[in-house]
Amino acid sequence: MDYRNLRVEKREGVAVLTVNRPDKLNALNDETMAELDAAFAALGTDPEVRGVILTGAGEKAFVAGADISELATQRPVDGQERSRRGQATLDRIENLGKPVVAAVNGFALGGGCELAMACHVRVAAEGARLGTPEVKLGLMCGYAGTQRLARLVGKGRALEMLLTGEPIDAQEAHRIGLVNRVVPKDRLLAESEALLRKMLANGPLSLRFTMQAVRAGLEMPFAEAQYLEATLFGLICTTEDMKEGTRAFLEKRAAKFQGK
Ligand code: COA
Repeated sequence: MDYRNLRVEKREGVAVLTVNRPDKLNALNDETMAELDAAFAALGTDPEVRGVILTGAGEKAFVAGADISELATQRPVDGQERSRRGQATLDRIENLGKPVVAAVNGFALGGGCELAMACHVRVAAEGARLGTPEVKLGLMCGYAGTQRLARLVGKGRALEMLLTGEPIDAQEAHRIGLVNRVVPKDRLLAESEALLRKMLANGPLSLRFTMQAVRAGLEMPFAEAQYLEATLFGLICTTEDMKEGTRAFLEKRAAKFQGK
């Protein structure tokens, strides 16, 4: 499928999805958000795709936020609707069932930071800047940034970023756990792909159930989360991949996982 504001390239099980509005620093207008939703829906069910790298076009930005020209005219009802639609799209990414790596190649501000946080891990290029400047515009996060940031870096650090609106550099983002690693700019895609392929060497159902346990479990009381984990553990024991993975270890050979 062709998109106006996205590029999708696939190679050997990995899809690289690039937000492609570099003249607007890849700002997320409604059309781009709708395309992101459609693209992730398609990638989620595409049997050729086992993992995704999400990045931004151009030298400067991953995504510099929601498109301020559209935000400027919104009223309460369409503001709430835009927020709910955006939250649903980011939930789709987090619940894709396949690992998604954000390759943060520059500014990840506002909706761009929220988008990166919906991915399972984040690799930042040196020089990238991340932040939630919505309050400087008299706005606030609307794509679950208040929730994901607090869960990722803790309430105090999240509130400092959310209330000052000041961006932080890649090193600071790494220090507080907002990004998983920082790499030279010219290595960003290669390092993101290497990290993703390390994950993809493992059983796809193991990845899917693990992401589900972490994602859903964090929202549950501990005892219920443990029950969820045990149930998924029981389910994984029914899979061909579990038989293959354990047998391969005992036979001292590499496992060949089928996702079954
Ligand atoms: N929405 C709409 N357009 C945006 C945008 C956004 N979030 N971020 C950047 N752009 C546009 C600019 O308006 C400009 O368009 P123009 O050339 O037609 O005037 C173009 O992208 C380039 O941005 P510019 O501001 O000239 O680049 P810069 O290098 O001087 O500054 C930033 C970079 C990221 C500091 C600055 O663009 C910025 O502050 N953007 C808004 C960030 C933000 O508040 N995001 C949260 C939104 S809720």
